Amino acid sequence: MSNIPLAGVQACVFDAYGTLFDFASAARNCRDVLGDVIDKLTPLWRDKQLQYTWLRAVQGRHADFWQVTSDALDFALETLALDKPGLRDRLMNLYLTLEPFPEVGEVLERLKASGLRTAILSNGSPMMLDAVVRASGLGTLIDAVLSVETVGVYKPHPRVYQLAVDRLGVPAAAIAFQSSNAWDAYAASAFGMQVVWCNRYGQRPERLPGKPDRTVRSLAELPALLRAPQT
Ligand code: LAC
Repeated sequence: MSNIPLAGVQACVFDAYGTLFDFASAARNCRDVLGDVIDKLTPLWRDKQLQYTWLRAVQGRHADFWQVTSDALDFALETLALDKPGLRDRLMNLYLTLEPFPEVGEVLERLKASGLRTAILSNGSPMMLDAVVRASGLGTLIDAVLSVETVGVYKPHPRVYQLAVDRLGVPAAAIAFQSSNAWDAYAASAFGMQVVWCNRYGQRPERLPGKPDRTVRSLAELPALLRAPQT
């Protein structure tokens, strides 16, 4: 796909989980008790977590991401017959300190230095996002942390993407939205944002409305795709 820079971008908006923060790091930090089962637990937990967000959105029965994440974890632990004392709480607490992907700090620094505004737009609850941003030490590089809790419905509902437009005060077309979740990237594109799909996981293109404008394998490729706003 083209590596020509996007034009007219004023703000960079990032998905949180899987894009800036590595959700796999929670189970990875429990390898001492889980061993190689982490390779089964991580995708099962994540897939169930996302399914619950979509199902709750369709049903109009919102519960916050902490609830959904713990429900999904309970499902995954029971499926894998993992019944170790303290494990559930340990994994949930690790979700509050997920490790950022290695390139994230430097990329955010470069974007800020070039005059772009930065924000997170995430399913995460304000408590979860505040915690993970604080733990990462990246807070000073992120201008706004936007949670779906403000609109009471999960991605990919258009109200979520509208929240970024409203809060940042820029049109959708002036936002570069980055997500590693292909479905999220496609939805933001269908909404009208410019989209860079960070395809960390080597996924196939979705058959959904929208089309990411650029595809990268890591956010390290992002600064080259963004021009500083004209002043
Ligand atoms: C988020 C999930 C979708 O941060 O990764 O919104």
